[in-house]
Amino acid sequence: MNIPTYKEEPFEWYKKMRKENPVYKEGNVIYLFKSRDIMDVLSDYKTYSSQFRNLLGVETAQELNNMVSPSILISDPPAHTNLRNLVSSAFSPNTIMSYGDKIREITVSLINNLGNKKSFDLVSSLSSPLPLSVIADILGIPIKDKDLFKKWSDRLATSLGRGPDMQTQMEMSGYFGRMIDNNYSNNLIKKLTDVVIDDKKLTKPEIASFAILLLVAGNETTTNLLTNTMLILSKRPEIYERIKNDNKFIDSVIEEALRYASPVQSTRRYAKKDTHINGIGVNKNDFIQLYLGSANRDEDLYENPEEFNPDRKNKRHMAFGNGIHFCLGAPLARLESRIFLEEFSGAVDGFGVIDPAPDDKIDSDIMYGYNKLIIKI
Ligand code: HEM
Repeated sequence: MNIPTYKEEPFEWYKKMRKENPVYKEGNVIYLFKSRDIMDVLSDYKTYSSQFRNLLGVETAQELNNMVSPSILISDPPAHTNLRNLVSSAFSPNTIMSYGDKIREITVSLINNLGNKKSFDLVSSLSSPLPLSVIADILGIPIKDKDLFKKWSDRLATSLGRGPDMQTQMEMSGYFGRMIDNNYSNNLIKKLTDVVIDDKKLTKPEIASFAILLLVAGNETTTNLLTNTMLILSKRPEIYERIKNDNKFIDSVIEEALRYASPVQSTRRYAKKDTHINGIGVNKNDFIQLYLGSANRDEDLYENPEEFNPDRKNKRHMAFGNGIHFCLGAPLARLESRIFLEEFSGAVDGFGVIDPAPDDKIDSDIMYGYNKLIIKI
């Protein structure tokens, strides 16, 4: 099967697969396209594991674990439950809301930096530096290291789904280790070193691994949500007009953008035992490729799924996943996007884009978005 990377538009292919091969097996990989099947797999962590290092054999897994602790994203219960309990208070809706003023300050300053420019690259001037500055601030990282973060974040995002980039992870692990040793952070890293639940504390490698995950999981994804939303709005000026006059409408636009142009198009699990999905046999250790972006266009759930319609009734989607690994940063991504759209629509009357070329698309097996989007105002 010829699997498109997200440099191409995958949506016609998804549609065909949903119709003709909703559960498709090739070699040791099972590809899922329907919402129901994907939801079932993500809900059943006992059968479908995220703990991929187990597949590498005990010795290699141990060697990797010694270098960089497995993150929450690639852990199963009980390790996952412990990690999630330890970090979740830092991401509760209340804690996230308390970052609102800071996020607005960063957003306004980035928009002001545009000055009177009539044309600019959205990605490098707004949609990339915004989440990067926010997460650096939340982690308590000095702004002078921002470029270093951008480099790490880009390298890790490109490696997603293509095997771990150990070199980058080790550089980052060393950086965060030094930060903890020197009591350098005044924010989340510091809080994480102090948190105790059921007599358990996070170890230094666990904190480093979590900080790395936040950079990978939080930056590129939010950047793509902002860029994808703006590209859609450039084609739908009537929706942008409504945003300017009714800020409450922004939330519906963001949810629909998450569904329609999901920044994370797919994720993976592997089977811990022989089983079957809709009559197709699954062998122990087979990989399951879950197309969230296809689930979000499933005609069983959505009327006219290929249409961008912020007024649609069913606003549920799987852009943030489902089950125990449901995105921890969802409230933060939503808040950043809302503040960005509020401030941008307050400052800019109307805008168009230069249609991106295929090469402007991110070359990834997971992420859907653009490296560059030229806005004209
Ligand atoms: C639009 C932006 C975002 C999208 C589309 C997104 C998407 C996702 C998805 C699909 C998963 C589940 C993956 C799986 O089950 O295999 C996930 C997990 C996660 N995300 Fe996000 N994410 C976004 C923003 C963020 C932000 C801003 C942060 C934090 C700063 C974050 C932190 C996490 C973490 C820590 C996990 C792992 C949770 C766990 O394993 O229990 N994400 N995200």
